[in-house]
Amino acid sequence: MDRIKIKGGRALAGAIQISGAKNAALPLMVCGLLTDERLMLDNVAKLADLATMAELLAQHGIAAEPVGRTLSLGGAITNAEAPYDIVRKMRASILVLGALLARVGEARVSLPGGCAIGTRPVDLHLKGLEQMGAQISLDAGYINAKVNGRLRGAEIMFPFVSVGATENLLMAACLADGQTILANAAREPEIADLAKCLIAMGAQIEGVGTDRLIIEGVSALHGAHHPILPDRIEAGTYACAAAITGGEIVLRGARMADLGAVTRSLLEAGVEISETDKGLQVKRLNGLHGVDVMTEPYPGFATDMQAQFMALMAVAEGASMVTETIFENRFMHVPELNRMGARINVHGASAIVRGVPFLSGAQVMATDLRASVSLVLAGLAARGETIINRVYHLDRGYEAVEEKLAACGADIERI
Ligand code: EPZ
Repeated sequence: MDRIKIKGGRALAGAIQISGAKNAALPLMVCGLLTDERLMLDNVAKLADLATMAELLAQHGIAAEPVGRTLSLGGAITNAEAPYDIVRKMRASILVLGALLARVGEARVSLPGGCAIGTRPVDLHLKGLEQMGAQISLDAGYINAKVNGRLRGAEIMFPFVSVGATENLLMAACLADGQTILANAAREPEIADLAKCLIAMGAQIEGVGTDRLIIEGVSALHGAHHPILPDRIEAGTYACAAAITGGEIVLRGARMADLGAVTRSLLEAGVEISETDKGLQVKRLNGLHGVDVMTEPYPGFATDMQAQFMALMAVAEGASMVTETIFENRFMHVPELNRMGARINVHGASAIVRGVPFLSGAQVMATDLRASVSLVLAGLAARGETIINRVYHLDRGYEAVEEKLAACGADIERI
């Protein structure tokens, strides 16, 4: 099994091209189920999760063929079942449910189980589709859904913000009969990107970028060509890499607005960030200060940046409190960071991080994507050698991580 070896202590300098966003590409690929015509997606990163989505779509009858950085999706739906073997690898597989129901009136999708960061139920996805007229039952670990005729428009008020439920219902609503209102919808940039692609496919959506999406269903969608937005979490991660090593990196293609509250927290911590027409310039010349953060739906501080920011706070001057409000178990990186010399205590949903002057290299292991990359960041700053096990977590969401960091001077290799 691959491992990553890092010799820490080098200030990073150079430029990193930010890839297309994983969490935008996943629902955008599912849009391939919504039309008989060809959907072309540009700026698609080479990531394990996207390969899993391609595998899932292929067994529904939709081929996803890469042509350079473009993915060409086309075909006809031949099978409405998303099997356990694929769904267990990637929870985002649940996103096919709404699209299959809207297109072929039925779907059988394995229930995603819990995962390392929390229980992650899908009740909001199911309740919303029921409001749109679907009949849903659970049997032998599968969601069985069907609808007589078309789904019908409905007014759906989410009790709390869910990225996945907003995406699933937005896709379904585009082909429903009548108007759907999604209230308290997620406002993540990936949702606006999905809406833009759906509009290019002929969907009628108002309120893009707000928490109230109004969709007038149409009878069919057509093909389109859509560029995927840059990955704000990858950009934020490399901003932390510049900051933790006291270096300077240009994040090509990254956009400040997409980072939401993460920018403010980095600035408060003593990181300099400026936006140019090429992307974001990030540098740290002086010491880091402890800053409190709390994860929230966009534009609040992203939960997908929490582990990386905690690695930064581990070497900041003073204390910081990191509170996780989105997932109940997203502190799996804490014991590993502590093995590298960090001083972090978890109390319920908050972690108190007392900054230390330096971290020390160690053998570490992580349980999810963002936890893994936080250990890479810690390794870049640590004295001595860090070995990160279970690199497959990183490959799910970071394209060419070691090449990108090595190009900026990091001593990092895959072994
Ligand atoms: C998306 O997951 C992202 N995944 C996650 O990124 C991200 O952490 C998360 O949004 C929050 O920003 C993709 O976009 C593929 P949610 P999702 O529905 O859609 C609860 C990464 O590292 N909930 O917004 O699954 C849920 O358990 C990943 O790239 C219900 O209770 O997140 C969680 O506590 C990990 N019932 C909260 O809501 C539901 O029906 C928010 O989850 C749905 C969600």
